Amino acid sequence: AAPLRIGLAGLGTVGIGVVQIVQKHAAMLTARSGREVVITAVSARDRTKNRDADLSGFAWETDPVALARRDDVDLFIEVMGGHEGPARDATEAALAAGKDVVTANKALLAHHGHALALAAEAAGRVIRFEAAVAGGIPVIKTLTEGLAGNEMRRVMGVMNGTCNYILTRMEDAGLPYAQVFEEARQLGYLEADPNLDVGGIDAAHKLALLASIAFGTQVSFDAVEMEGIGAISIDDIRHAADMDYRIKLLGVARMTGRGLEQRMTPCLVPVGSPLGQLSGGTNMVVLEGDSVGQIVLRGAGAGMGPTASAVMGDVVDIARGLRIPTFGVPATALTVPVAAAVSAA
Ligand code: NAP
Ligand code: HSE
Repeated sequence: AAPLRIGLAGLGTVGIGVVQIVQKHAAMLTARSGREVVITAVSARDRTKNRDADLSGFAWETDPVALARRDDVDLFIEVMGGHEGPARDATEAALAAGKDVVTANKALLAHHGHALALAAEAAGRVIRFEAAVAGGIPVIKTLTEGLAGNEMRRVMGVMNGTCNYILTRMEDAGLPYAQVFEEARQLGYLEADPNLDVGGIDAAHKLALLASIAFGTQVSFDAVEMEGIGAISIDDIRHAADMDYRIKLLGVARMTGRGLEQRMTPCLVPVGSPLGQLSGGTNMVVLEGDSVGQIVLRGAGAGMGPTASAVMGDVVDIARGLRIPTFGVPATALTVPVAAAVSAA
């Protein structure tokens, strides 16, 4: 079979992780895909930057839209970030040019996922985003493939490692929020706009994406009830601990008789529960289906290796010829959800 030729837009943490896997595991990827998987061209802003990979064999495009349209690219990987500008423009250009797309960009999908899935289907292509939700945990594959025979009851979890790190550290070290926030900044855990993490927005993006897949509804990020962790005090954490609870930034989505309920808020969870045991920057997703019951997935929600691992899972699916729709059903079949106010529950 002809090789699958990748155009990789973004050579930061995730992009370099992808290059490393493709180079390190070339023979294994070929065996699993039934064809060679090669990177032909890459894009980033600064060509002179020192990067932790050998890029000498790849063509270079400074403009990611030009990369997306190249004739020697079959699959466009978008790992630049941002829900407008180059990420959106290049993804749309890739689909219009007849390329499949893999992205790690939850913001892009949370804002434009339905339109992009429609565009992909109109072009006879696929757009996949396993890495966008809970990093290395294959939660989207679990929902769209492994649990395809279930009517989903509830999806919940801790989906922002930075918030979980901050809350765990406040509890373990007895330190106030402001001090741990600063520590997280120095460790490089925070997004360029920290409010995406501590405001709950990043986690809400992920929850909205999972809810769409679980309930067959169009992504409705604007309807997520959201509250960040910035107001959590050390006293809140101590009082929770006194009652054998921990505070977690917890996302819950479920379909009720009143419509789709989605919330991403600080919650009390029992210390002895799986969610209560989760510490540091780890993620946990709990899936409940009518036949399977409850499944708990736990693992690294961020970082070079785990995130690139999820990107490559999508790449191998596409190389194998698997055409799973972006949200598990054709985008035209996704229904418009009615938002159920959580406070009315
Ligand atoms: P990053 O380290 O900041 O890298 C971004 C890359 O995109 C850089 O190589 C940058 O180029 C390039 N870029 C940015 N704007 C560009 C433009 N206008 N034209 C061309 N290239 C451009 O980001 P990251 O951490 O790898 O994250 C990438 C995506 O993955 C984001 O959507 C993020 O939310 C998602 N994600 C990340 C993680 C994680 O653990 N890091 C986990 C899950 C999902 P330069 O290097 O030249 O500046
Ligand atoms: N800022 C995100 C987190 C990165 O802390 O979980 C992975 O999406």
